[in-house]
Amino acid sequence: MMRTQVGIVGAGPAGLLLSHLLHLRGIDSVVLEARSREYVEHRIRAGVLEYVVAQLLIEAGVGGPMQADALPHEGIILRFNETDHRIDFHALTGRHVLVYSQHLLVRDLIAARLAAGGTILFESVATRLEGVEEARPRIHYTQDGEERELVCDVIAGCDGFHGICRPAIAQHLRLFERDYPFGWLGILADAPPASAELVYANHAHGFALLSMRSPMVSRLYLQCAPDEDLNAWSDDRIWAELQTRFSRVGGFALTEGRITQKGITPMRSFVSEPMQHGRLYLAGDAAHIVPPTGAKGLNLAAGDVAVLARGLDALFKRNDGSALKAYSATCLDRTWKVQRFSWWMTSMLHRFAGHSAFERQVQLAELAYVTSSKAAATSLAENYVGLPLPGGA
Ligand code: FAD
Ligand code: DHB
Repeated sequence: MMRTQVGIVGAGPAGLLLSHLLHLRGIDSVVLEARSREYVEHRIRAGVLEYVVAQLLIEAGVGGPMQADALPHEGIILRFNETDHRIDFHALTGRHVLVYSQHLLVRDLIAARLAAGGTILFESVATRLEGVEEARPRIHYTQDGEERELVCDVIAGCDGFHGICRPAIAQHLRLFERDYPFGWLGILADAPPASAELVYANHAHGFALLSMRSPMVSRLYLQCAPDEDLNAWSDDRIWAELQTRFSRVGGFALTEGRITQKGITPMRSFVSEPMQHGRLYLAGDAAHIVPPTGAKGLNLAAGDVAVLARGLDALFKRNDGSALKAYSATCLDRTWKVQRFSWWMTSMLHRFAGHSAFERQVQLAELAYVTSSKAAATSLAENYVGLPLPGGA
């Protein structure tokens, strides 16, 4: 049996950043992670950090590699009717975002925790929570084929959408959900990005997104069926479809190259209310999912744990539970605003098979409005660079 103040399930961005923020405040934690270190450090996912999240990482002393290698982006391109329209974040908000791979951030956070003597138990699968309404909740987990137990003062459920923490308190939760009738097929390719800025393309064939990981590596996505068969997409077919969807009046050619990774991401909006029961606090994807169009999933996870770390600090240092009591409401306020933004970006940019000709025209009018009105463009920009984190940054 092991004992800690905060038992954290999941070594994704939420669990690792929480463990680090607690360490800075002198609070002890243990992170349990089902997968290997190798696996989580190479899992390809998100790539855009909000300004406020980048600031949080820098202030927490884990922004070094990010500051050295991230690509600052001061705007994005919206492409529709095969024409480009730039949203200038810097002019509209004074802020920018950083393009930096989630798996590199995970790598940086793991390195920081281990260097500080932190405990991350890889290949340790949490199987069951016990006593979340009691003073000493327990996490049962399996490591090296053996059943073990972690006794905590508080449990942080940072185990993603398919984890065990949210289901453990399911009877106390109200769930809000929306599925979209499409998914994204994403690739990584050894090809210099054909645009210096991200391109969000609304095309009659469906949405496509040009992003990047470095000056030599492109990250590209295309809207597909939610149950799309990846085997039906040869590299040639992927490039041909991407070239079509990124076509632009006057010409535009994607740089092609070797595809090094392919995957399908489902699209879902999901919120669990509240984000806490007893001594279990949910954070990140365990509590909410956004469709990826606004690049918000990772950023929301970081916002949650910033709030949670402050609440736990007040509890452990001053025996003041008021901030923790407000945890769920504080996070949900921001979550719902980000849900709205992600849903809106998704609705504006994708092809909906059920749309009438009228609805299609309204969608194009929305794009025309956002790219011609300073007020509307500012709304997009301030959401994209990140709404303020509750309590600062
Ligand atoms: P996760 O990163 O999911 O971490 C949860 C961790 O818990 C995992 O390491 C998991 O192995 C572990 N775990 C689960 N169950 C257990 C258990 N029982 N015991 C122990 N450990 C457990 N967002 C964007 O903004 N842009 C994108 O392009 C984008 N692409 C994505 C692509 C994919 C395929 C996926 C799945 C997500 C994507 N997201 C994207 C969302 C973003 O990556 C997530 O919002 C982010 O990872 C949330 O971090 P988290 O720490 O809450 O959860
Ligand atoms: C990336 C993913 C997104 O969902 C997005 O909106 C922008 C960029 C990316 O993986 O680079």
